[in-house]
Amino acid sequence: MTHRGPIALDGPVASGKTTVGQGVAQTLGWTFIDTGLFYRAVGLLALRANLEEWSNEVVARLAQQSEIATDDTRITIDGEDVSDVIGSPDVAAAASRVAVLSDVRRVLVSMQRKMAEQADGRVVMVGRDIGTVVLWDAPVKIYLDASAEARAQRRHAEALERGDESDYGRVLSDLQERDRRDSERTDSPLKPADDAHVLITDSLTPQQVIENVLKLAELPS
Ligand code: C5P
Repeated sequence: MTHRGPIALDGPVASGKTTVGQGVAQTLGWTFIDTGLFYRAVGLLALRANLEEWSNEVVARLAQQSEIATDDTRITIDGEDVSDVIGSPDVAAAASRVAVLSDVRRVLVSMQRKMAEQADGRVVMVGRDIGTVVLWDAPVKIYLDASAEARAQRRHAEALERGDESDYGRVLSDLQERDRRDSERTDSPLKPADDAHVLITDSLTPQQVIENVLKLAELPS
């Protein structure tokens, strides 16, 4: 079966984008790109720089001057593998703060488009603005959604499974704050593209969502 690509996969925090995107990419033997890693890397750069003010120009310069590279779920900044430090709630919050800055988005979108071009369309790219901005002309656009409670419950369970401390109420309020900032920003707000298929995943397993996405991407015979 032949599939159409690239596949643009968007959705709010913990909507299952990474698990589903990786599963789809693995099945097809395509490249997987998680654009959230880029914003987390720049959030980490801003935290480390101890900036007095997170201005558009200064944070964008930090992003531009650094060599940011990803491979599946790993990410490096100037050759340093930061994959294990960028998963923290502090870096997640910093990522959503730098994501409102237009110049930062311009730098990162250009990096992401280059990566998609290198994959020659055989790519599954996940994020918040893939179907609306980065790959606005992708032939397959999917928007995953689920209730805030179901998504917070997933994040909370994952943290406990890793042996990390987790407070469900805190996870839920952090997630709602990030969703609010992502949806209300003026540049590339989180929303389904007009031509996206919206999948509500509350009562679906990751495997069922992967199968749904593969079906939507099938080339009609
Ligand atoms: O997906 P993840 O939670 O790793 O993304 C971290 C943050 O990066 C998001 O909360 C969002 O603010 C930002 N982001 C974005 N556009 C993308 C991917 C992520 O604004 N394409």
